[in-house]
Amino acid sequence: MDYVPPIETLELADLYDIINEQFIDYDAQAAMVEAAVNRWGLEGRRALDLGCATGQHARRLAAAGFQVVGIDISPRLIEIARSKAEEAGLSATFHVGDISALDDDEQFDVALSLNYVLSYLYSNDVLWDCLCAVAQALRPGGLFVFDHHCFLPPHGEAPPAEWTEECRLGDVRLVVRHRQHLEALTGMVHDKLAYEFYRGEKLQKSLTSQEVRRVMFPPDLFMHVENAGFTVLGAFERWDLDTPATTPAFVAVAQRPPSSSEAGESA
Ligand SMILES: C[S@@+](CC[C@H](N)C(=O)[O-])C[C@H]1O[C@@H](n2cnc3c(N)ncnc32)[C@H](O)[C@@H]1O
Repeated sequence: MDYVPPIETLELADLYDIINEQFIDYDAQAAMVEAAVNRWGLEGRRALDLGCATGQHARRLAAAGFQVVGIDISPRLIEIARSKAEEAGLSATFHVGDISALDDDEQFDVALSLNYVLSYLYSNDVLWDCLCAVAQALRPGGLFVFDHHCFLPPHGEAPPAEWTEECRLGDVRLVVRHRQHLEALTGMVHDKLAYEFYRGEKLQKSLTSQEVRRVMFPPDLFMHVENAGFTVLGAFERWDLDTPATTPAFVAVAQRPPSSSEAGESA
């Protein structure tokens, strides 16, 4: 990384990309969305990015020729998404909005929600509203690409209640401390995060945030997706459509059934 802005003056939303780029392979994720569109033979390239944050996927898809609309509930993240797309000379549209109450009349060929966006919809009613709205926003035959992690440990091992991740941002060492607990009554996992930025051994800045995500088992999620009118085409290892999923952290592709005339044509 060449340039690290003065971390002392920034809030978490401004550090969103700097931190997430250390842990998330956005190139591979965007390439997989494009691969899904190609594999399932969609001709259109209109994409709806649900929970787009700073527009990491949106920018990559726009650069690959997609017309992208990104929606996120955070006004600051949308502001960043707009300015980054503009700086990169890419045309993509970003709206502040709630993905469980989409009011766009446009029809899309593909919708994506990546990096656990669906886990932020905390009740079945809200998840249902979102899935139905996505089905409505897709043209017949359109694809919904979403990832999932059930936020329980794989293979029944006890999760560490506390753990630490580290990365370097130029001459700054970022330590991210997680403290996580599962509230079984509500099915929510509460993750308290502390971000500590060090130069040498000296702590320069610390920030905290709290993430709440819901625990959901894949069969339950797929049941909701299918009830909303989709056909689940497959669940895959992240981010490779050639390898079926073997763990509960996967990416899935679902399809709004093609119209009867299209289905007839391909039969
Ligand atoms: C873990 S982030 C993933 C963001 C982005 N897809 C990425 O990969 O960088 C989850 C995002 O979902 C957004 N979000 C959560 N609930 C939402 C809702 N109901 N409507 C729209 N956005 C929402 C958050 O603001 C956040 O940007």
